Amino acid sequence: MSSSTKIIAIDGPAGSGKSTTARLVAKKLGFIFLDTGAMYRAVTLLALEKKVPLSDADALEDVAASVQIDFKDDEEGQKVFANGRDISSEIRSPEVTAAVSEVSAHAGVRRHMVAKQREIGKKYDIVAEGRDTTSVVFPNATLKIYLLASIEERARRRVIDFQRMGKVTTVQEQIKAIQARDEYDSDRQNSPLKQTSDSIPVDTTHLTIEDQVNEIINLFREKTGA
Ligand code: DC
Repeated sequence: MSSSTKIIAIDGPAGSGKSTTARLVAKKLGFIFLDTGAMYRAVTLLALEKKVPLSDADALEDVAASVQIDFKDDEEGQKVFANGRDISSEIRSPEVTAAVSEVSAHAGVRRHMVAKQREIGKKYDIVAEGRDTTSVVFPNATLKIYLLASIEERARRRVIDFQRMGKVTTVQEQIKAIQARDEYDSDRQNSPLKQTSDSIPVDTTHLTIEDQVNEIINLFREKTGA
């Protein structure tokens, strides 16, 4: 990693508000938002389309090695492209969401994604969001944040997200889904979800998005004197 770029790495469990927070922090600071989860989702979408079995490590690694992933900002937020195709909506489908934990657990897939993420971090000031950004991808990040929220609050946020997509679900259903994902992501062998000792915990249960964005920007300014 080049020491000339600034990197804020944000980690935390599903539904802790990582994506929204990271996107807004990046916007306010004029940094690039690196949504690493979207990259694993892109590989998962292509694998599902190609009917690659989710247990076929070699075939999944081939998909990860060959895909060109790009991010572009527009008024609605950030768009994600795989080999030039806009896949922003498809990567949020229930099918991709159900399969992505298994795909992202393969070491070969992770190796290629981590290499791509570090390349971006060498070139630009970034806010990187995702499971292993504080531990594996950017261990020397300028600032590391671990976002937390109670499981009930995280489930409530997911219900609202799904409502926006026109899907009906309940808080109880989402508590179960989030518990299962937390367990899977924490117990897996490759890059499990964990808080590094040098990450600053930010509990967002009772914070508005604006509050949490400002808190992270203040922490960044304190750390860098910027
Ligand atoms: O944050 P998200 O829901 O878009 O992440 C999708 C999945 O990808 C989630 O199951 C965790 C995994 N992931 C990962 O393994 N490593 C990352 N750096 C980011 C996400």
